[in-house]
Amino acid sequence: MDKRKDIFSSFNKRVVVNLDPRSPEAESYRSIRTNILSSNLKNPPKVLLLTSAHPEEGKSLTSTNLAIVMAEIGKKTLLVDCDLRRPSVHGILGMDKAQGLSEVLYGTLEWDKVLKNTGVDNLHVITSGAIPHNPSEIIGSDKMKLFLEEVKNVFDIVILDVPCILAVTDSIILSLLADIIFMVVMAEKTPREAVLRAMSMLYDVKSDVAGIIFNKVNMRRSHYYYYYYYGSKTRKES
Ligand SMILES: Nc1ncnc2c1ncn2[C@@H]1O[C@H](COP(=O)(O)OP(=O)(O)OP(=O)(O)O)[C@@H](O)[C@H]1O
Ligand SMILES: [Mg+2]
Repeated sequence: MDKRKDIFSSFNKRVVVNLDPRSPEAESYRSIRTNILSSNLKNPPKVLLLTSAHPEEGKSLTSTNLAIVMAEIGKKTLLVDCDLRRPSVHGILGMDKAQGLSEVLYGTLEWDKVLKNTGVDNLHVITSGAIPHNPSEIIGSDKMKLFLEEVKNVFDIVILDVPCILAVTDSIILSLLADIIFMVVMAEKTPREAVLRAMSMLYDVKSDVAGIIFNKVNMRRSHYYYYYYYGSKTRKES
């Protein structure tokens, strides 16, 4: 195992640091990064939120990978697990979920006391903390707003990993605090009606969706695969 993979062996194998940097998967996360950073050059978005219509469409994995590729270009990045019902960022990064956002929102700990190092330069994480009995209430509290105001002053990019829209209200509440929102859609699986319904729920509270990220796309059918093949071939030949 090479040194780089050894450092991140506790991470999920689909986390970008464990992928071939030239792979279509890694390249697609960089492409999303470029789109976000070029979306408003004068006033680049700071707080990013990725949500989806249904559960398990890939929000947490995509949020984590996006956080890593942001950190890789020197952006001081914070990934916050705001899914206080079924948190998973800690699992993806092989860490303990204890002491995180819920303690901050209950006021028992300051946010800088629950900040975790990831081993990736420029990337910090705040895990969910203990599962609260009232997630929507604490997510919608003034403490959450205050927390985000404070971390925005310290980090260049803050990525919020949230639950899906159609099951619980937490995403809608958090969308009001985000600068840019993306829908993660499982390619060829999520019904179009579900995506439209989720988008209209966001629209109802004036939270516009900036774009859709298609997850689990068959890369062999995508143009990225062609570029990967092309890139590998020319490198080998040179
Ligand atoms: N592009 C992908 N390729 C293969 N597996 C994937 C991909 N994206 C996500 N997965 C896997 O699908 C499962 C769900 O992913 P993830 O936890 O990111 O979804 P989620 O939308 O955050 O789910 P939840 O709604 O429960 O929060 C995980 O096991 C994850 O490893
Ligand atoms: Mg998730």
